[in-house]
Amino acid sequence: MLRSSMYMCPGLRDNTYLPYTDSPIAMKLILILLSTQVLAARPFLEEPDTGLESIFGDVQLGSLPDLKSIVGLPDFQWAARNYLPLSNFTYYRNAAGGEWSYRNNLEVFSRYSLRPRFMRDVTKTNRTMQTSILGYNFSAPFFISPTARAGFGHPDAELNYVRAAADQDILYIPSLRATLSIEEIAAAKSPNQTTFQQLYLPKSGRLSDELLKQIEGSGAKAIVLTVDSPANGDRQRAFREQGNIPEAEYRYLTWDTYNEIVSRTDLPVVLKGISSVADAREAVKHNVPAIFLSNHGGRQLDTAPSALEVALEIHEEAPEIFEQLEVYADGGVRYGTDVIKLLALGVKAVGLGRPFAYANVYGFEGVKKAIEIMKREIAVDAANLGVVDLQNVDESLVNWKPNNWNQ
Ligand SMILES: Cc1cc2nc3c(=O)[nH]c(=O)nc-3n(C[C@H](O)[C@H](O)[C@H](O)COP(=O)(O)O)c2cc1C
Ligand SMILES: *[C@@H]1O[C@H](CO)[C@@H](O)[C@H](O)[C@H]1NC(C)=O
Ligand SMILES: *[C@@H]1O[C@H](CO)[C@@H](O)[C@H](O)[C@H]1NC(C)=O
Ligand SMILES: *[C@@H]1O[C@H](CO)[C@@H](O)[C@H](O)[C@H]1NC(C)=O
Ligand SMILES: *[C@@H]1O[C@H](CO)[C@@H](O)[C@H](O)[C@H]1NC(C)=O
Repeated sequence: MLRSSMYMCPGLRDNTYLPYTDSPIAMKLILILLSTQVLAARPFLEEPDTGLESIFGDVQLGSLPDLKSIVGLPDFQWAARNYLPLSNFTYYRNAAGGEWSYRNNLEVFSRYSLRPRFMRDVTKTNRTMQTSILGYNFSAPFFISPTARAGFGHPDAELNYVRAAADQDILYIPSLRATLSIEEIAAAKSPNQTTFQQLYLPKSGRLSDELLKQIEGSGAKAIVLTVDSPANGDRQRAFREQGNIPEAEYRYLTWDTYNEIVSRTDLPVVLKGISSVADAREAVKHNVPAIFLSNHGGRQLDTAPSALEVALEIHEEAPEIFEQLEVYADGGVRYGTDVIKLLALGVKAVGLGRPFAYANVYGFEGVKKAIEIMKREIAVDAANLGVVDLQNVDESLVNWKPNNWNQ
């Protein structure tokens, strides 16, 4: 119980110790204090209480629950946290600063409630799930975002991502910092499987000919250039765990760098990490084929906005951008409704990072199940919401005025 207490609601629970005193005034004060605790801001819940503890509670530390008992993406986080050595789990769970962006990524989705519409024929909505990303067809509007070092979760590392993506016909974007090499991942692809390759530039800002050749040689159909990391992130969870604060490092990357890379390859170069309407406009100006809204899972700049907030701002201030280039988004996506909210704003496809890293502790079968869970959730959530066509989600199905559920 104790090991998970930081993830649990610290409010009143069955075993809460109730202080007792004979003084009626003191007792009244205690009750007032208790009630303000209950009425205070809702505590942060990253594995919301859906009865998970009562089913997994007996699983030994260091063991995995049966994959059959996993029913939602947060369950995979519970499993990985319980199973992995702390330093492995920390590598995935890590985020920057006070982790406010990390939390906001998860909480922002419940800040916008849905406006379900009924009496519509949604029996064929499931058939509208497939989508195209930069012209390549996939079975679903979500993909595996680039997360480094799958080997921290499973010995087959990225092989599980690439094979599950092929099995389920979704896009996978390998990280440049993968456990396996670009060639090893490429060799595991199915015939005609489409992948994109994530790219970081070295400190100098110069993409070497060798690396470009490696990427092109892998058959990747696009380069996803991460722009949101000009310096290393301030990730206290990992620093504490590793026992030191690393030296500050900076990376050179400007629009000139982008133009230079584009001039050297025929591959489309997508920008990952765009976090403002102004930079989205710059991207249009530079003929960027697609932007990927992301705050890097809250791992780079704490209090940077979530992709949903940036998408909403673009939707309000420059909606034409969604027509001028493709927009992808990630960060905190854990439920079908999260995906649908992003699609409603005009986002073409949605990425998930940590959920697949956690699912990978079960290997291929775990990653595959995570994809299946997400497809099913999108299908039933869309139907219950009154979405007839997932390619065309009506923005008015979401109330874009924030609710007060999180207060
Ligand atoms: C363990 C880990 C490693 C990551 N490595 C990379 C990376 O190498 N390149 C990159 O562009 N983004 C990287 N990211 C960010 C993800 O691509 C993605 O933006 C983020 O995980 C989305 O948030 P989510 O984890 O809440 O789904 C990483 C994220 C995590 C959690
Ligand atoms: C992709 O899907 C579209 C629409 O369903 C279809 O017209 C097109 O032929 C498909 N492209 C490929 C390469 O399968
Ligand atoms: C933890 O990560 C290390 C790599 O640092 C890896 O060798 C080990 O297998 C991982 N543990 C598990 C249980 O996956
Ligand atoms: C793979 O692509 C080639 C040509 O690009 C095509 O001839 C072949 O039918 C495709 N195979 C599958 C399984 O789609
Ligand atoms: C969607 O429909 C197909 C058949 O058209 C079915 O095989 C699949 O399981 C359904 N998926 C979901 C998530 O409902």
